[in-house]
Amino acid sequence: MPITVKSDREIELMTEAGRILEIVHNELSRALHPGMSTLDIDSMGEEIIRSYGCIPSFLDYNGYPASICVSVNEEVVHGIPCKTRILKEGDIVSLDAGVIYKGYHSDAARTYGIGEISKEAKKLIQVTKECFFEGIKYAKEGNHLFDISRAIGRHAKEYGYGVVRDLCGHGIGSNLHEAPEIPNYEVKRKGVKLKAGMTLAIEPMINMGGFEVDWLDDDWTVVARDHSLSAHYENTVLITEGEPKLLTLTALT
Ligand code: MF3
Ligand code: CO
Repeated sequence: MPITVKSDREIELMTEAGRILEIVHNELSRALHPGMSTLDIDSMGEEIIRSYGCIPSFLDYNGYPASICVSVNEEVVHGIPCKTRILKEGDIVSLDAGVIYKGYHSDAARTYGIGEISKEAKKLIQVTKECFFEGIKYAKEGNHLFDISRAIGRHAKEYGYGVVRDLCGHGIGSNLHEAPEIPNYEVKRKGVKLKAGMTLAIEPMINMGGFEVDWLDDDWTVVARDHSLSAHYENTVLITEGEPKLLTLTALT
């Protein structure tokens, strides 16, 4: 599949999808507390998404049974919300969500600590976010796609973290997953040349230990093989001739 360059109209719709998703994340982050279940997060997230007239992108996507992916501690991504999974002080939790607004998707993820977390866990969350920002320094017309990948991978390596290789970022638009695939590690090839109007979901997934992951028997939840903590940070990004526009992070906090 070729990489689509979005029209002004499409960019407008994706901008709105991004703005709403940013609100969803902000509201969920404020609600997090020890004692809540991962299903509570999903229910709240779905309600907020629908209150803006949007559809949760993930619900029923390839059979995924919820609106928000909630991944705790060694879970990397795609954790399935569950009423008996209760968050406790010291956990870290990754929330990944997507919304569809008038046929266009946005996709973003954040990792948070529940109450007081270890200094090591804080560092992992911080560096995962930094990896994203290192990557998008290269997200500009004329650069190559894998410039982004290299910058992300190198930053994580500096800290000795494991960069997940079995899952990648992706193009996004009228589909949740479009071309191209965006690895979070250095590759030899340059990748395609970036063009204004491309929209990309850039999403480093970083383990405190090794990069290897396993899929649980639910066929969704991805966990760090060595059960080390894992963090995820993602935004939907619009490529321009200058600085990239972060469609799911307008407030830059
Ligand atoms: N951000 C995730 C991804 O791009 C969300 C997909 S979860 C799914 O893969 F449940 F929808 F598959
Ligand atoms: Co994504």
